[in-house]
Amino acid sequence: MSKQILILPGDGIGPEIVDEAVKILACLRDDYGLDIDMHEALVGGAAIDATGGPLPEATLELAREADAILLGAVGGPKWEPLPYAVRPERGLLGLRGGLGLFANLRPAILYPQLAAASSLRPEIVAGLDIVIVRELTGDIYFGKPRGVHINEDGQRVGVNTMVYTEAEIRRICRVAFDIARKRNKSLCSVDKANVLESTELWREVATEVGAEYPDVALSHMYVDNCAMQLVRNPKQFDVIVTGNIFGDILSDEASMLTGSIGMLPSASLDEHGKGMYEPIHGSAPDIAGKGVANPLATILSVAMMLRYSFGDEDNARRIEQAVTRVLDRGLRTADIMSAGMRQVGTSEMGDAVLAALGQE
Ligand code: IPM
Ligand code: MG
Repeated sequence: MSKQILILPGDGIGPEIVDEAVKILACLRDDYGLDIDMHEALVGGAAIDATGGPLPEATLELAREADAILLGAVGGPKWEPLPYAVRPERGLLGLRGGLGLFANLRPAILYPQLAAASSLRPEIVAGLDIVIVRELTGDIYFGKPRGVHINEDGQRVGVNTMVYTEAEIRRICRVAFDIARKRNKSLCSVDKANVLESTELWREVATEVGAEYPDVALSHMYVDNCAMQLVRNPKQFDVIVTGNIFGDILSDEASMLTGSIGMLPSASLDEHGKGMYEPIHGSAPDIAGKGVANPLATILSVAMMLRYSFGDEDNARRIEQAVTRVLDRGLRTADIMSAGMRQVGTSEMGDAVLAALGQE
């Protein structure tokens, strides 16, 4: 039976970049035997405008039925005045929580062609290849109590709760150890165990899981040190595992090592390998509608979908090689532009990848 893919363009540059990724999927379907059906639905601000809420029941239902989901980005200034509970971001968090997508894989790879676009010196980032494994359905993002209330002195108090069960920690650590085992057998668990009890537990459980993986070297690092080490000597890392909020912050930082946040894809997986795939960047309202956004992170997210949800390594590689070829030829969107390269817009970049799919 055909695999069902749900397409959620979302807001800002979301629809533009998703269009390019859909072109690639359609080409793989028509010419390379990828057996898929694509459906589209609303999420985020687009859903708020059309239905009043960021995650319509119909979208959640389609997402539950789908074999994989491709998401652009959500959010924008238009919806910022709305209460938290109905903002576009809640649509994304509702999908992650509602579908149990607890394992977020965020690879940060430096394409050698883009070394000049990194804000760090080329010798510090050359050959960089890190995977951040971020827990995605727990922590302060979902912990209760949360909210703003008035205390006995009449003061407004904002509350969020950082909380992890050992089962949540164990399952994300297993995902990270499995990935580390297939790579360089080195895993760094990031916490703030010197201050926060919930991450003291994180460290304990990570160490317990480590006993099941004697072949993987486990190290621990405080998150503030990790943020510093990522810019000081990023190549000391191979696989990093961490909680939701630390992973959010560290993955943005890691992305810039690679030259642009516009290059990095991600996968968010449940227990059974079903996944939602999205670029790690946001909806970039400042450049939305201008046709200048970089579609490569979204296109590379499709490659992750084919690899992790469909086990189609051939077509995943086909996409990744096409991206490499296009970069080799000197095509660059504005965010990765450097001297001597040819600047192109969103759809020109997408078309170039499309054309490169069939080249050997
Ligand atoms: C990300 C984003 C989201 C997050 C936002 C848009 C809710 O920053 O995917 O990293 O904080 O997880
Ligand atoms: Mg983020």
